[in-house]
Order: sequence, then structure tokens, then C-alpha cells
Amino acid sequence: MQEPNAAAAGQFQIGGDITVNRLGFGAMRVTGKGIWGEPTDPEGARATLRALPGLGVNLVDTADSYGPFVSEDLIREVLHPYKGMLIATKGGLTRHGPDVWAPVGRPEYLRQCVLMSLRRLGVERIDLWQLHRIDAKVPREEQFEVIAQMRKEGLIRHVGLSEVGVEEIEAARRHFPVATVQNLYNMANRKSEAVLDYCEQQGIGFIPWYPLAAGDLAAPESVLSRIARRLGASNGQVALAWLLKRSPVMLPIPGTSKVEHLRENAGAAQLALSDEDYRALEAAAR
Ligand SMILES: NC(=O)c1ccc[n+]([C@@H]2O[C@H](COP(=O)([O-])OP(=O)(O)OC[C@H]3O[C@@H](n4cnc5c(N)ncnc54)[C@H](OP(=O)(O)O)[C@@H]3O)[C@@H](O)[C@H]2O)c1
Repeated sequence: MQEPNAAAAGQFQIGGDITVNRLGFGAMRVTGKGIWGEPTDPEGARATLRALPGLGVNLVDTADSYGPFVSEDLIREVLHPYKGMLIATKGGLTRHGPDVWAPVGRPEYLRQCVLMSLRRLGVERIDLWQLHRIDAKVPREEQFEVIAQMRKEGLIRHVGLSEVGVEEIEAARRHFPVATVQNLYNMANRKSEAVLDYCEQQGIGFIPWYPLAAGDLAAPESVLSRIARRLGASNGQVALAWLLKRSPVMLPIPGTSKVEHLRENAGAAQLALSDEDYRALEAAAR
């Protein structure tokens, strides 16, 4: 069997100057239950991270709030100095317990997020720093302004946003170029379709989170399952291949804490869906 390699998914230039393979990795799952504390299998989590370069995965998504800090710390321990890899992190969400997330967008806090991520990741500049959420309690202009300032100071190279609409992206672009947008998107959840179309028109990378979810489409006798069986692939691989075919700016970051799952997900890069299968899945999902 061919060794899985994310390079087969094709490439995308983040911010016009950092080339990554389009199939990335989400490092939220290398933490404890509820994305809180240490992973239940720390060696398995380390092995998963260690396997990334060999599988051609060079876009890694994390956040200071994953753990908190556990994901960034493990990435530093296993992957530093990140030769040829883009480690994208986020800030702006505080944590008060398992599965509890609260945005804080005060400029002083966002600056602390960036400074502490720099320290934890052991870098002088963050190649892609994403505002995890716009905090509705703080004027968004203040949040964008401090980010623009940190970009000018060279602490951040490119800026991304998360869970935003087109109007918010345009408001942010008045302060800095938006390199990526990370929104919930998968075959079954297409609420961000207009945002994806906008990103494609503007050459902005679109990072769909929760990419493996396929809802009812994953049922044993569904169109998805039939296509997967015929191609000798898993449902998850077909869901990822569908995303990759959906748009050239699509950068899926499936997350896992297990090497076997990582290998399977990376294998989706080699799975070329025919136009006919793509359309059948599109019709079933709508
Ligand atoms: N911006 C945001 O607000 C936001 C929100 C959520 C997530 N994210 C980012 O998006 C990434 C992906 O999202 P996600 O982790 O929620 O969703 P996902 O990647 O669609 O699914 C991850 C889940 O699927 C399981 N899994 C992964 N590969 C598998 C395989 N081959 N076979 C069976 N199960 C498999 C994982 O468990 P195992 O560990 O057991 O494999 C995990 O429970 C995250 O890692 C994070 O970086 C961003």
C-alpha cells in the first residue's frame, strides 16, 4: 500500500508566502477530556505529533487554550524547531474547566496571549496567529488594533480569524490582511458556505474545523458509505477528500491523538474523488 502523504492534497500559500500541504493537523485532541489538562495517553499523543513530518503534514493548528497550554507545550517538546512546518496558534479564549470556554478580547490580554505563545512555542514570531473569537464585550476595533500593532512589531507574521462572518472579515481587513479564516464546516454542516465562497474569491485560506463530521451521511447504507466501500476508503477519508475538492483554499485540519487515525486521515490526500462522486455527495448533503 502507498505510504500516506499529505503533499498529495496539493499546496496553498498562507498569506502569499508560506507554502503548506493542504491537509493539515488539528492539535486540540492531544489534551485531556473536555480539552482540559494532560492527555490520557501522553505517549500516544507524543507519537502522533512525532509522526506528522513523515506523513507530509506541515500545517499544525493549535491554541493556547487547548489544555490550556498542554497542546502548545507538547508541540514544542516534540516538534521544535519545526523545520518546514507552520505552527498556527490562537488566543483570546480563557478556560474555566473542561469544555468551558470564555472569550476575553481586552487588548492587554490578547498581547499576553501572543507573548506567552511565543515563549511556549520557542519562536520569535508566530507565523499564523488566529483570534479564536471576537469578544462581543470589547469593541472589535480595539481587538483588531492591538493585533495590527503586534503584526507591525513583528510578533505575528500572518493573522487569522475564527468563527466569523463576511462582514467581520471585511472589518478586520481594514486593520490587517486576513490570511486565514477558521470556521465550523464539514459535509453535513454548511452554515459557512458564504464565508468559504468569499475566502475563495479573496485568496484567503479556509480552515474548516470539525472536518470529519458527516452526520447522517455516515450511516452504513448512505451515499457516503457506499462510495467509501467502492473506493476501499473509510467514511472519514471520503469526507476529507470531499472537502479538499470543494475549494482550492480549503485547508482541513482533522484532529486525533492516535497515530493510526492520523495515518488514515493523511491517506485522504491520495483519494481523488471523481466529479460524479463529488456531485452525488453534494446532493445527498444538501
Ligand atoms: N476554531 C475553533 O473554534 C475550533 C473548534 C474546534 C476545533 N478546532 C480545531 O479543529 C481541529 C479539528 O476539529 P475536531 O478535532 O473538533 O474535529 P475532527 O477532526 O473532525 O474530529 C476529531 C475526532 O474524531 C476522532 N478521529 C479522528 N480521526 C479519526 C479516524 N481516522 N477514525 C476514527 N476517529 C477519528 C478523534 O478521536 P481520536 O483522538 O480517538 O482519534 C476526535 O474525537 C481541532 O483539532 C482544532 O485544531 C477549532
